[in-house]
Amino acid sequence: MASSASSLEDLASRIKTCTHCGLCEGRTNAVPGEGNPRAEVVFIGEGPGATEDAQGVPFCGASGRFLDELLGSINLNRADVYITNIVKCRPPGNRDPLPEEKAICAQTYLVPQLGLIKPKLIVTLGRHAMHFFLPNLKISEAHGRVFRRDGQVYLPLFHPAVALYNGSTRGQLVEDFQIIPRLLEQLR
Ligand code: URA
Ligand code: SF4
Repeated sequence: MASSASSLEDLASRIKTCTHCGLCEGRTNAVPGEGNPRAEVVFIGEGPGATEDAQGVPFCGASGRFLDELLGSINLNRADVYITNIVKCRPPGNRDPLPEEKAICAQTYLVPQLGLIKPKLIVTLGRHAMHFFLPNLKISEAHGRVFRRDGQVYLPLFHPAVALYNGSTRGQLVEDFQIIPRLLEQLR
């Protein structure tokens, strides 16, 4: 977790002008992340969509409204947590981020962000975020299960965007979310 950045603000300003991968070419705004710099729990999605790219804010479109509902269901709001993504710039046409884009962006920015926040729990949303920390797992099997790696606790969940269009995934995500408060209680 070595980082030369002294704060999340420093990282955010570097992200906004970053040209380390090809995703810089199509972006309107990079989306560094936002929330409580001392959050106990960090949520990590895949990458900005169209709304996020336009506003520079993570999860501010349709899947973000659902994420807000999910947070509300466990008595949390955005100011309590930190929300960011594996890649900070929108992949064109919402294509999957490429392996090298994920690797370079996450190593350069996400890992230092997490080193500064030091969350008790990392919740990954969807398979891209899960695979960065927990390679080789299948989201269909791993969702809602707690993993410990090198002293860090992870909870992989389905991505809210998928859950929006699939009723059974949605129900599962709502159910899995209820693990978060119990887990945080144990980790305190
Ligand atoms: N989907 C994501 O993975 N991240 C966002 O910020 C918005 C939608
Ligand atoms: Fe830089 Fe990440 Fe944006 Fe690529 S996606 S240009 S590495 S901030």
